[in-house]
Amino acid sequence: MPLFPEVVSAETRKKDSNFTHGDHRTQQSLARKQLIAQQRKSLPIAAVEKRLVDEVRKNDTLIIVGETGSGKTTQLPQFLFNAGYCADGKVIGITQPRRVAAVTVAKRVAEECNVNLGQKVGYSIRFEDETSSTTRIKYMTDGLLVREALLDPFLSRYSIIIVDEAHERTVHTDVLLGLLKNVQHARSQSMLKQQSFDRLNGKNPVISDKEVKNQGISGLKACQHAKCAPLKLVIMSASLDARGFSEYFGGAKAVHIQGRQYLVDILYTYHSEPDYLDATLITIFQIHLEGGPGDILAFLTGQEEIESVERLVHERARQLPEGSQKVLVVPIYSALPSEQQMNVFKPAPPGHRKVILATNIAETSLTIPGIKYVIDPGLVKARSYNHVTGMESLIIIPISKAQALQRSGRAGREGPGKCFRLYPESEFGKLIDSTVPEIKRCNLSNVVLQLKALGIDDIIGFDFMEKPSRMAIVKSLEQLSLLGALTDDYKLSDPVGLQMARLPLDPLYSKALIMASDFKCLEEMLIIVAMLSVESIFYFPREKLEEARASRKSFLSSEGDHITLLNVYRGATECLEKSKAANIKEKTVEKSLNKWCRENFINNRSLKHARDVHSQIKGHVQQMGLVISSCGDELVQFRRCLTASFFLNAALKEPDGSYRAIASSQNVQIHPSSVLFRTKPDCIIFNELVRTNQNYVRNLTRIDPLWLPELAPQYYEAQK
Ligand code: CDP
Ligand code: MG
Repeated sequence: MPLFPEVVSAETRKKDSNFTHGDHRTQQSLARKQLIAQQRKSLPIAAVEKRLVDEVRKNDTLIIVGETGSGKTTQLPQFLFNAGYCADGKVIGITQPRRVAAVTVAKRVAEECNVNLGQKVGYSIRFEDETSSTTRIKYMTDGLLVREALLDPFLSRYSIIIVDEAHERTVHTDVLLGLLKNVQHARSQSMLKQQSFDRLNGKNPVISDKEVKNQGISGLKACQHAKCAPLKLVIMSASLDARGFSEYFGGAKAVHIQGRQYLVDILYTYHSEPDYLDATLITIFQIHLEGGPGDILAFLTGQEEIESVERLVHERARQLPEGSQKVLVVPIYSALPSEQQMNVFKPAPPGHRKVILATNIAETSLTIPGIKYVIDPGLVKARSYNHVTGMESLIIIPISKAQALQRSGRAGREGPGKCFRLYPESEFGKLIDSTVPEIKRCNLSNVVLQLKALGIDDIIGFDFMEKPSRMAIVKSLEQLSLLGALTDDYKLSDPVGLQMARLPLDPLYSKALIMASDFKCLEEMLIIVAMLSVESIFYFPREKLEEARASRKSFLSSEGDHITLLNVYRGATECLEKSKAANIKEKTVEKSLNKWCRENFINNRSLKHARDVHSQIKGHVQQMGLVISSCGDELVQFRRCLTASFFLNAALKEPDGSYRAIASSQNVQIHPSSVLFRTKPDCIIFNELVRTNQNYVRNLTRIDPLWLPELAPQYYEAQK
């Protein structure tokens, strides 16, 4: 049954004229260059290049507001490069909240500049660095820039930092904004001191002693460290309201780029949809069969959902009548291997309609051409934090009105479009106006640890754009103390705190690696931390459910999910080693691993990501001098180490078969995906809390309750 009365559109989209003569490569690449040049010229931002460059020159901090797709992310850095901001080898840094955006945009800009990625244009994200000493336009995640500040507190290699997608207000963006405000101040002080010095030496009579005095002397130390010119900041946002940013930066100027937005027809369902994945599927095919040409973009909440809908679309597409237009499904989410991310930008082959299944990433971070239809179930996966219990969980919640508008806007970039909201119109009115900044709904341990490592000890006094609650800060300080990262007077401890801050991981995982080095099972813990950083290692195709279940059994450990994941990783490594020993080419090795994944119902995308993460963190711990040894089959040792590391996430079985999380006293259930779902041991430690209609815990290991006071006396002895 279709959910919407009709989707037929009379319009037909003019097809790009295809290159017909000669398929010679150079001709194709020439055509591609011409196309790109043409696309760039027609972007709304192209008309205001000179004005923007002037505004950046005149203002130390500038806020740029512009519709998604106006060319902010790809063009502004190039304008500034051409305006000379990379003289003396300085770098223009652009931060993104999301890895995918940093990667795909960098690739696009490298192509626009006609250079290889990693030369003039590069990107750097956690676990992946594509930059070199020649990189001048550097895309990166906001979290990564915060980390860079640990090594270079004045961010001295950057002439300009562009904080992109600031409206998303991720926790890293908020921390970065506060930090950049400090750095900007310190660098202008350093400049002032230099000018004053020059003036005393008769070089620069522009500034008076009084001015130097008025600016204070705290930042003056800066110039001893770095010959830094003032730091320019550009804050870019897709939301129209720039007031908050402007106020935070002392009344900074905001400029608006006029976008181009065509009319988007908004359609609602009559009733609430109990199963939004099914509703998405029905709507995809209704559009496909009844709608005019144009690609479809559907917003889902995560990798697991995307992959399941992807399979269902494939299944149903096979049943389409002979000769009907085909469907090309393209997923996009953060953990997708980077070579697959670019597929969303490729046009569908003739005779195909492209159906993009995306997380929130496609809301404003990525502009994907060709979209005419948007399907919006109105949901997003978000972090949520309980101040009382100190527990963070992932939860699927309704989006805000601002997000709903951004999503529908994606259908009207190139012509009129349609947006199918999979909820009734009355529900729209109930949505909150704009999203609550993440810093107000997450565990702050990571933020606190990073600020401490940056020498900022007074966390409560830190100039956040929006202050997190005092209680949340205090909870995090407590947690970090329990993990041994802070001293009694809440300073970063040496070496544990310092080591934890150096690892690009959640403090709990950093601590687990440090612990594992003592427990002589670091090899195993590296694997676990890598495997826990990806979603859905196993997959269960509907048509082969029994086979998939049987296959999982071969990896299963009765001790729990961690060791089960370890078995998968070890299995994959064995397969790789075998093929390497057979001396076959690297491509073939990769192929044999993919085959192994298919045969064992392992998600090869996730496994690949886990392997990348593994090799990166292994590099980090090696640099730190931790000893990587294996406990082999002594897995009790490993479980004890898990206990010593994740003791804050322990739960005891209640008489009714549910569990009570010890630290928070919350009632939780074992998630059905866990290998311990049926066994229900007396005591477990877990890594993740997911809230749906219940509190579920995922990624568990069975432990002996007596290990808790033995291995974490700092917590369990004090509780007595
Ligand atoms: O940042 P903003 O949303 O203002 O726009 P942008 O990301 O700079 O995108 C400008 C244009 O570049 C879009 O119209 C996209 O079609 C194109 N683009 C692309 O084709 N491939 C990419 N990887 C990124 C952008
Ligand atoms: Mg952008």
